[in-house]
Amino acid sequence: MAAGRKKVSVIGAGNVGATAAFHVAKQGYADVVLLDLPDDLTLERPRKTGSMAQGKALDLNQVSPIVGYDARIRGTSDYGDTAGSDVVVITSGRPRSPGMSREDLLAVNADIVQSVAAQAVAASPDAVYIVVSNPLDAMCHVALKATGLPSQRVIGQAGVLDSTRYRNYIAAAVGVSVEDVQAYVLGGHGDQMVPVRSLTTVGGIPVQKWVDTGKLSADELQKIEDDTRQGGGILTALIGTSAWYAPGVASAEMAEAVLLDRRRILPCTVLLNGQYGIRDLYFGVPTLLSAKGAEEVYDLTQLVTLTETELAGIKESASKVQATVDSLKSLGKL
Ligand code: LAC
Repeated sequence: MAAGRKKVSVIGAGNVGATAAFHVAKQGYADVVLLDLPDDLTLERPRKTGSMAQGKALDLNQVSPIVGYDARIRGTSDYGDTAGSDVVVITSGRPRSPGMSREDLLAVNADIVQSVAAQAVAASPDAVYIVVSNPLDAMCHVALKATGLPSQRVIGQAGVLDSTRYRNYIAAAVGVSVEDVQAYVLGGHGDQMVPVRSLTTVGGIPVQKWVDTGKLSADELQKIEDDTRQGGGILTALIGTSAWYAPGVASAEMAEAVLLDRRRILPCTVLLNGQYGIRDLYFGVPTLLSAKGAEEVYDLTQLVTLTETELAGIKESASKVQATVDSLKSLGKL
């Protein structure tokens, strides 16, 4: 690896991991280590040499002359290669199949995330950890326990993904650039997630005004919010497995905020400590993301006037996340 560039390790060389690795590498400020098991146990005929992670890394290096990045990607199954990472992105785990909820992955992915987080932290104790594996909120609890790090450095990726889905649907419906739609989707990364309509603007104008002036119908906006909540499930039904472009790029965006100390305010899954009336629970809320990790968490209930529906949605989503975390505890995995 070239000296001087930052280092990002992506654990899990599946579709989400490889997409995150590609997007980080394209930005050019960090080398990437892509780690997975030495062999893919689902293969009918195991490879004679090397691993999927090595193959994807080589592919990503080979595209660099065309795309124009000097960042290097190393594929490996050795945690030693991840040593000294600035950011570790954990994507390991089974993806969803059609008809499966994220919660259906609970027990199997808890074991996987526990194992990879423990091995990664031994090599990179100073990194900021970004968890992507599902069910996301519960997996953040597993990673926090396995790493033993302060919660500021164990953060989940969900809100950036859910918000980009919401923004994309709104931009298409109104007929404006996606860049001009600002929106937050908060709460747990499940079907009870909360698109916060009262903080959603199109060209700085509250989205409700676009409804009031007939540019967007109320039914359309309702459908957009429903489709956002069902976002992952809609994609899984279409693709046959979990989505990866938006989840991978969303993870890379969070990694960038940390690596470049950008102090972005992004919806992140963080351990709440009384904010929103919620304690000891990972939950998606606007967060100041810097080189320190989740530097500051914003409690919207204290800062803006949320609607009754939004407040009720936050409560419902939190109790759903709490129930998943409780099942993890009763399975003896937390
Ligand atoms: C999704 C998965 C990654 O929402 O949770 O697409």
